[in-house]
Amino acid sequence: MPGERAILASFISEEKIEEIKERSNFLQIASEYVTLRKIGRNYQGLCLFHSEKTPSFTINEEKGIFHCFGCGAGGNVFTFLMRAANLSFPEAARQLAKKAGVELPREERTKAERQNQQERERLFQVNQLASEHFQRLLLNSREGERALKYLQSRGLSKELIVQYRLGYAPEAWNKLLSWLTEKKVPLSRAERVGLITPSLKKKGDYYDHFRGRIIFPIFDLQGRILGFGGRILGQGQPKYLNSPESSIYQKSKSLYGLYQARESIQREDGVLLVEGYFDLLTLHQHNFLNSVATLGTALTREHLDILKRYTKHIILLFDADEGGKKAAQRSLEFFLEKELSAKVVVLAPGYDPDNYLREFGAERFREKMKEAPFLIDFFIEETAKGFDSSISGKAAAVVEGLAPMVARIKNLIERDLYIKKVAEMFGIKEESIRGSLKQPRKRSVEQVGTERVADSAPRGAEETLLQLMLEFPSLAARIREEKIVELFSDPVFRKIGIKLLEEQEKVGKMEASQIIDLLEDEQSQRTLSQLSLREPNFSRKNFQKIFQDCILKTKLNDLELKKRRLLAEIKEAEEKKDNPRRNNLSLKWQEVISLQKKLRRENVSG
Ligand code: GTP
Ligand code: MN
Repeated sequence: MPGERAILASFISEEKIEEIKERSNFLQIASEYVTLRKIGRNYQGLCLFHSEKTPSFTINEEKGIFHCFGCGAGGNVFTFLMRAANLSFPEAARQLAKKAGVELPREERTKAERQNQQERERLFQVNQLASEHFQRLLLNSREGERALKYLQSRGLSKELIVQYRLGYAPEAWNKLLSWLTEKKVPLSRAERVGLITPSLKKKGDYYDHFRGRIIFPIFDLQGRILGFGGRILGQGQPKYLNSPESSIYQKSKSLYGLYQARESIQREDGVLLVEGYFDLLTLHQHNFLNSVATLGTALTREHLDILKRYTKHIILLFDADEGGKKAAQRSLEFFLEKELSAKVVVLAPGYDPDNYLREFGAERFREKMKEAPFLIDFFIEETAKGFDSSISGKAAAVVEGLAPMVARIKNLIERDLYIKKVAEMFGIKEESIRGSLKQPRKRSVEQVGTERVADSAPRGAEETLLQLMLEFPSLAARIREEKIVELFSDPVFRKIGIKLLEEQEKVGKMEASQIIDLLEDEQSQRTLSQLSLREPNFSRKNFQKIFQDCILKTKLNDLELKKRRLLAEIKEAEEKKDNPRRNNLSLKWQEVISLQKKLRRENVSG
């Protein structure tokens, strides 16, 4: 995140970011993702960053801050949109600017950025041109007739064929090559997206990558063509030949059909995930519009991050062979990690969604979807199949295999249910499962060596001081003068305090929503959003007294820490029989003690 900010800062000024923030309607933007209700000075709703039943997601419009008291997520309108819509900082900035009607000067982009953008646009253009060529050949040429017939024989309507802009690359070495030459496309550019391949025989020569194949363009979310899939017409090897990856096309981040499916996925709050081009097209042909396909690669975390923007419910349709089952099981880990609900349908051997739908129809298929078990249950059942309770020692091995998966279930109630279930199925004690779930705690050396010096009382005072500064900026003067922030024992509070004072010096005010952008780590951001939205333990009437108390506590705590450090040093000096040093330290110790006394006295009399 900080990195992106730095890049962004090079072409959008701080003032612009400020303007965007001020003119953005945070409530309206958040309302697109959360249903909000006004409660007191804040708005509340069910948090979208974790699952909950009682609302703890809170927005304060005036402060421009959100915080979830359940999961700790927090920040300003930028941070919110980045997480809610899975955007980078620059993307969020652009989107917010557009909504708020803030003009972003184009010149402010760096030259490198502009060139990169131009190069990408050119590559998309080449793909677009090629696609038009393939499409024309499929729909309006003699060579394409056979391909069109083939597609229709597989149940695809002309409408669908046009909608998905399917095409045909005839059996020839330079058909696309001459079309691109005619269109004055630099050939190196077409090579960069893998449409043509350099000839080994003659330097500077190229030939077409796709020959004698049905062509499936792969779209990004804006409808631009990232690359192509190509299926052989009739028999032959390889059955599928695809565009290689390029600067605009990464298979692990792309899903076939998503461009057309995403509205439906959102509406139905669920998605069917299949493995093949034809499976996807047949599903859409039968009105299962909420489906997408991977592109001949395994399912990745990135795929799930993309789908997660639209739904949390995913049904996997995998081939019945061992490979398909294994793939489903492998992906379970990702689903648990991302807290997505996954069900799985394994069709009978020899069937894929395409031929299943055409043979048995949409109704039977819909039934299958309804009966689909959860992926984790499927995983447990499959493990149980290979299990023979008569062989001793086998149960332990089984538990060892299942435990890591069960341990990944984040919801504790659900995890408990699965522990019970596994225990019952394999005739093992629940306790022994729980035992193998417990992973040795990883504690860093520092953590083990030193106990927390600061207990919660001084932290409370430090937090309250930050809250007081935000609420009554005039108090900052004394805090600065007496260097109170420097005395804070909590590093995160100290960091926030320093930023607040810096900001006040620079721009004359302290606003949590601005400071959030200056804090580079997530923990500080969360802490700041929390303390600026949490009910303060002071009121307009008593804040002066509380302020006084907190300053005193902070100072006393600091002295307490100093004493501990001195004591350790004194011991060390004694052990080394270093008398001069020992005496010197004793004097310091005396000073600290008298300071402590003085502070206490002053406070009682004051
Ligand atoms: P049909 O056989 O026409 O029904 O195609 P299909 O989509 O059902 O293909 P299949 O089940 O054989 O494979 C599923 C997916 O894996 C395909 O859609 C491709 O993405 C990919 N795939 C299959 N065969 C090959 C291949 O030979 N090479 C590559 N690169 N990918 C393949
Ligand atoms: Mn198939």
